[in-house]
Amino acid sequence: MSAVISAENLEKTFHVGGRTVHAVRGVSLAVSAGEALGIVGESGCGKTTTARMLLRLEDPTAGRITFEGTDITATRGAALLAFRAKAQLVFQNPFDALNPRFTIGRSLAEPLRNFGVAKSEHEARIAAAMARVRLTPAADWLDRHPHELSGGQLQRVVLARSLLPGPKLIVADEPVSMLDVSVRAGILNLLRAARDELGLAAIYISHDLALIRYVCERTLVMYLGRVVEEGPTPALIERPRHPYTKALVAAVPVPHVMQDRAPLPIKGALSDAPLSGPGCAFRDRCPLAFDRCAAEAPPLRNIGEGRKLACHLGDEA
Ligand SMILES: Nc1ncnc2c1ncn2[C@@H]1O[C@H](COP(=O)(O)OP(=O)(O)O)[C@@H](O)[C@H]1O
Ligand SMILES: [Mg+2]
Repeated sequence: MSAVISAENLEKTFHVGGRTVHAVRGVSLAVSAGEALGIVGESGCGKTTTARMLLRLEDPTAGRITFEGTDITATRGAALLAFRAKAQLVFQNPFDALNPRFTIGRSLAEPLRNFGVAKSEHEARIAAAMARVRLTPAADWLDRHPHELSGGQLQRVVLARSLLPGPKLIVADEPVSMLDVSVRAGILNLLRAARDELGLAAIYISHDLALIRYVCERTLVMYLGRVVEEGPTPALIERPRHPYTKALVAAVPVPHVMQDRAPLPIKGALSDAPLSGPGCAFRDRCPLAFDRCAAEAPPLRNIGEGRKLACHLGDEA
């Protein structure tokens, strides 16, 4: 199946007050229609920066992005606007995503206007999008203001707004982290239904492996800007190979996973990690590090069954 979106060796470097931050270091990925890819890793590992580059909200320092077969790495103007309609972000915080002074109807009409959809089509498109997120009849909701809605209802409106331009790709960055646990599954199920029915490619970004397991067929594990492990989500969670993935799996309660749950304590915090020099970026926090880990960085390589691993230990395992 051909990819809706693919990226090769994406890099992003920020310069802040004389300091250089290598936020993303050589990330490659591809997502097909109807497929959901998860990107997991702790705060600061570069997930959001990767998403922003894929959506062309941030220019990559290096690398290439292809969307529906076209190189969009440096697209501008009308072509960028057309891309924006097809590649939508689902905002993390529904309380921030909508203008509090606008009615729901006005917030929903805005993207249609921006993308040049004829006014005569607005009502039907909005009704269809509201039906997808189970806010029906739409007329009951359109005159309300955001403060009259619960967090879960707001996130449904935000999702409807993302679907309105007719996207082929949805990128959801921590889509439910601001919501009550009780409404999270409902939102994730709506996202999945929209993906299945519309054949969307989806990228979910989360620090929460339980969420990723619930919605994503394939997952990338990021550590300090790099992909350290990649594979089908069930295999990755049931048989993690990278010590960092093992630590992530051990740290979250993932139902029905009994294997390999012995705690593998990783040392320190992300800020303690080596930021430069040769060797594996995870070595100072890795309980299993050995000489070679300080001398050379392990490349991401195929280890079979659709899996990839960047760890010297993988040679022996
Ligand atoms: N606009 C920016 N300017 C400077 N540094 C940034 C910017 N955006 C992100 N960073 C830095 O890049 C790194 C990755 O951030 P981010 O992509 O937000 O990670 P995550 O989403 O995984 O938490 C962090 O060190 C962060 O401080
Ligand atoms: Mg983030």
